[in-house]
Order: sequence, then structure tokens, then C-alpha cells
Amino acid sequence: MEFMEVIRKRRSIRRFKPDPVPEEELKYILEAARLAPSWANTQCWHFIVVTDPEIKGKIGEAGFRWSARGPAMIVACADPAQSGFREDQYYYLTDIGIALEHLVLAAVDRGLGTCWVVGFHEDQVKEILGIPENIRVIALTPLGYPAEEPSARSRKSLEQIFSYNRYEQKQSK
Ligand SMILES: Cc1cc2nc3c(=O)[nH]c(=O)nc-3n(C[C@H](O)[C@H](O)[C@H](O)COP(=O)(O)O)c2cc1C
Repeated sequence: MEFMEVIRKRRSIRRFKPDPVPEEELKYILEAARLAPSWANTQCWHFIVVTDPEIKGKIGEAGFRWSARGPAMIVACADPAQSGFREDQYYYLTDIGIALEHLVLAAVDRGLGTCWVVGFHEDQVKEILGIPENIRVIALTPLGYPAEEPSARSRKSLEQIFSYNRYEQKQSK
């Protein structure tokens, strides 16, 4: 698929067909995450692929039940100590944001649906998945073949989101 077509086609998908995600497709999208840039190339991420329905269901109970509806789920974890901190900004969040979005876009390329989810109780998800205390769970996404075709959500116009040479306050919508 052409690059901008992938970007334009992506939607947050919350309904899925029951068909499992083939191993080679899973590897394809994880490879896209693997190639993401990161603070000093430290690659602070770890992705947990959850396919066990019971474990997936428990994670759904720790947040949104619908997030467990797909045949798989990807839980994006970070080790903050492996990434950087500068002038009050923590870059593990940026690292995970880039890597998970690589994965999300690669999923579109393979006809798969995802949805960024941060609405969950992190402590419960950590307990369910045996995630050590020093590791943060940043986001998760259900993964599977879409069973819905949501229309595009609105976006600010191009003029509203950039300026040349200096910051300009723009109308928010
Ligand atoms: C960082 C982040 C967190 C999000 N968390 C949630 C969430 O917890 N629950 C949810 O239903 N959608 C969540 N979303 C999806 C957004 O609501 C969605 O991207 C936005 O409404 C635009 O719709 P679209 O993705 O279909 O273009 C999240 C998206 C991002 C980028």
C-alpha cells in the first residue's frame, strides 16, 4: 500500500472478526516496531502479544472490555531507565509512541485493525502479565481483522497546525 494511503486508511478499530492473526503478519508488524528510532538507540520497549483468551479477557476487565474483543492484543511496555530524561521530559513515552505507531501503520498495510488504548489500570495489567515493578505499561492495542469501517474523525486544518519561523497561537477548531 502506498505510504499516504496507509496513513489515510488507519482508523481506531474496536470491533474485530474472530479470525486469528497469522504468525507472519504478527512478525511483520513487530518488525515495523523494531525498526523505530529511540533515545540514543536504547530501544527501551518490550511488546507482549496476548493471544490466550483468558489472559486477554482479564486485561479487558482491567480496562475496556471491548479491548479484548480482537483475537490478539499487543501490550507496549517500556523500561524508563533505558531511555532518556532531559529538561523535565521523559523520552520513553516518545520512544513507545513512535514504535507502537509504526506497528499500527504496518497493521493497516496488512489489512489488520488496531486501536491505541491507555484506559486501563496499569497495576492490574502488570499483575496479570507478570511485568516487573520498574517497567511501565504505556499503551495496548487490540489486533485483528476489522469488523467495522468507521468513517474518518475530523482533524484540524493544515493551516491550524503549523506556522513558519515562530510560534503562532491558532484557533483550536
Ligand atoms: C495516546 C492515545 C490514547 C488513546 N486511548 C484510547 C482509549 O483509552 N480508549 C479509546 O477508545 N480510544 C483511545 N484512543 C483512540 C483515539 O480516541 C482516536 O485515535 C481518536 O479519536 C481519533 O480517531 P481515529 O484513530 O479513528 O482517527 C487513543 C489514542 C491515542 C493516540
